[in-house]
Amino acid sequence: MKIVVIGGTGLIGTKLTNKLRQRGHEVVQAAPSTGVNTITGGGLGKVLSGADIVVDVSNSPSFEDSAVLSFFETSSRNLLAAETAAKVKLHVALSVVGTDRLPENGYFRGKLAQERLIRASTIPYTILRATQFFEFVGGIVDSCGDRQIVRVSPALFQPVASDDVAAALVDVALGAPVSGIVELAGPDQFSLDECVRQYLVATNDSRKVVADIHARYFGAELDDQSLTPGENPRLGSVRFADWLAGHPKCGTSV
Ligand SMILES: NC(=O)c1ccc[n+]([C@@H]2O[C@H](COP(=O)([O-])OP(=O)(O)OC[C@H]3O[C@@H](n4cnc5c(N)ncnc54)[C@H](OP(=O)(O)O)[C@@H]3O)[C@@H](O)[C@H]2O)c1
Repeated sequence: MKIVVIGGTGLIGTKLTNKLRQRGHEVVQAAPSTGVNTITGGGLGKVLSGADIVVDVSNSPSFEDSAVLSFFETSSRNLLAAETAAKVKLHVALSVVGTDRLPENGYFRGKLAQERLIRASTIPYTILRATQFFEFVGGIVDSCGDRQIVRVSPALFQPVASDDVAAALVDVALGAPVSGIVELAGPDQFSLDECVRQYLVATNDSRKVVADIHARYFGAELDDQSLTPGENPRLGSVRFADWLAGHPKCGTSV
């Protein structure tokens, strides 16, 4: 099968591409750096010609609220129109658990807009909503820490390894469309402040972590349901403590 991975050069896209190729599929890594741009539409028609499946794991280059919304709306509109013309059989997109629960979070508003456009299209689809990647915990620390203190919510948190996300996407892409949402989370649930504490210890960062129920997560206060999955999510196998032991300095943007 020909599978096009939009955002195929990114963190998830690279891992997903490798896993799909190991299964013998023809996989194209589509991204601006490989000549495919979902915002301008450049290269889209050509790369989708003969494609059976599209997996969208692209991300906005800017995390400013209006830029994120504009990216996911424009990108999804262009991509879904081009997929319709190319008669693509399955559209898979990677979204975030809780996207519909935190309207104060600008990034989540962008992902929700992306999901709505997918649901409104005629292409069979599956949306995989994952919790925060382990690689993103460093980004959370950067967003709410100063030189001495990192102030975060004690709300429940259940992050997942990017390897587990890529593995789940393989199954979703090669399975039948569910025309709905599949949730994915990591194997361990703990409070966000405890997760950040473990991350700081592992990265030799001596800052103090303060748990504060009013601390905002990218603009939104959290409760125990904000970032955790509903009933019967798919669970990853990599534990945060094991990942930390192997990747003590790892961190990404979003
Ligand atoms: N971080 C988290 O905790 C988390 C949790 C759940 C879901 N997610 C979702 O996971 C997805 C993938 O995240 P990631 O960390 O793997 O992203 P990433 O490493 O930042 O990669 C982003 C990819 O998007 C591509 N891209 C940017 N602009 C594009 C455009 N105009 N047209 C086509 N491709 C474009 C980039 O291409 P270039 O390399 O050419 O720039 C790159 O391949 C995102 O949609 C995010 O919402 C993230």
